[in-house]
Amino acid sequence: MRRGSLVQLVALGVVIGAGATLVALLVPWLPPNASEERDGIDLVFWFTTAIAIAIFALVGSVILYSVLKFRVRPDDDTDGPPVHGHTGLEIVWTTIPAILVTAISVMSGIVLVQNDRASSGHLNVDVYARQFAWTFTYPQQHNLTSAQLRLPLGRSVELRLTAADVIHSFWVPEFGQKQDALPGQETKLVITPTKLGTYPVICTELCGLGHALMRTTAIVMTPQAFDAWVKKQGQALTAPPGEAGKAVFANNGCASCHTLKAAGATGKVGPDLDKLPTYAKQAGKPLEAFVKESIVDPNAYVQPGFPKGVMPTFNLPADQVDALVSFLTKGAK
Ligand code: CUA
Repeated sequence: MRRGSLVQLVALGVVIGAGATLVALLVPWLPPNASEERDGIDLVFWFTTAIAIAIFALVGSVILYSVLKFRVRPDDDTDGPPVHGHTGLEIVWTTIPAILVTAISVMSGIVLVQNDRASSGHLNVDVYARQFAWTFTYPQQHNLTSAQLRLPLGRSVELRLTAADVIHSFWVPEFGQKQDALPGQETKLVITPTKLGTYPVICTELCGLGHALMRTTAIVMTPQAFDAWVKKQGQALTAPPGEAGKAVFANNGCASCHTLKAAGATGKVGPDLDKLPTYAKQAGKPLEAFVKESIVDPNAYVQPGFPKGVMPTFNLPADQVDALVSFLTKGAK
């Protein structure tokens, strides 16, 4: 190869690489960074991107150079020279990608192991996924349940994920790492929030018809605000069952689907809970038993006129189920 050709090739490669680098750096591709674990994830992301840019520049420059230099004239109908491959080149283009892919996997492995370490004094949150909603339970905080993930700023949190039905996957883009939620098996994910704010919780595993709607929010609060929330919820849950049930109703997002005057709820997706006594009569069951069954096993009886399989099972502690039943039957009487 002549020296001049090499200079031209390298120049093309530099221009293409610089263009791709600008696109990578100037466009804000990634969401804001809101957790310590995100740093490692971003590191792997940018490492992989740098490799991709280098290979893109190499391939792009060779293609562009070939198109410019070896183009035939319009009247040239002769066959090109026969080419039989090049063993040396093939070894090189197999070896280099193998090394790069191995480097990416080693780096990913190191980052995942580091991210898995929860610092001492971490908070535990049980994450329960089902078609098509999330429930977060705080075992160290009165077992309180919430449809939103509330986290204190700067404290490491170990999420322990399970699923009721099919495979789901927990993902907050701002926190970085994803983790599957599997039926009958517990998986873990450590998050240490570094930025106050409200972020989307997204199910990122196709899990059925409502997959796209399986979303909620993660709210990162100051430790004081988090403690105040825990205290308030704790008080609400230890109140007389009727009142505690109101808190359970609010925390688990029941209002988004149901109407209930006592809770100021106006949802229209599911049955009107002010009509529970009527429904219980239609089902031929005593009111309290009927309401409890409808919460624990929603498909045992579905009110005519409403679709089957829409109401999710909520993995509520028994005392919260009782409180909710008490609230619902008292409000409806
Ligand atoms: Cu749950 Cu997708």
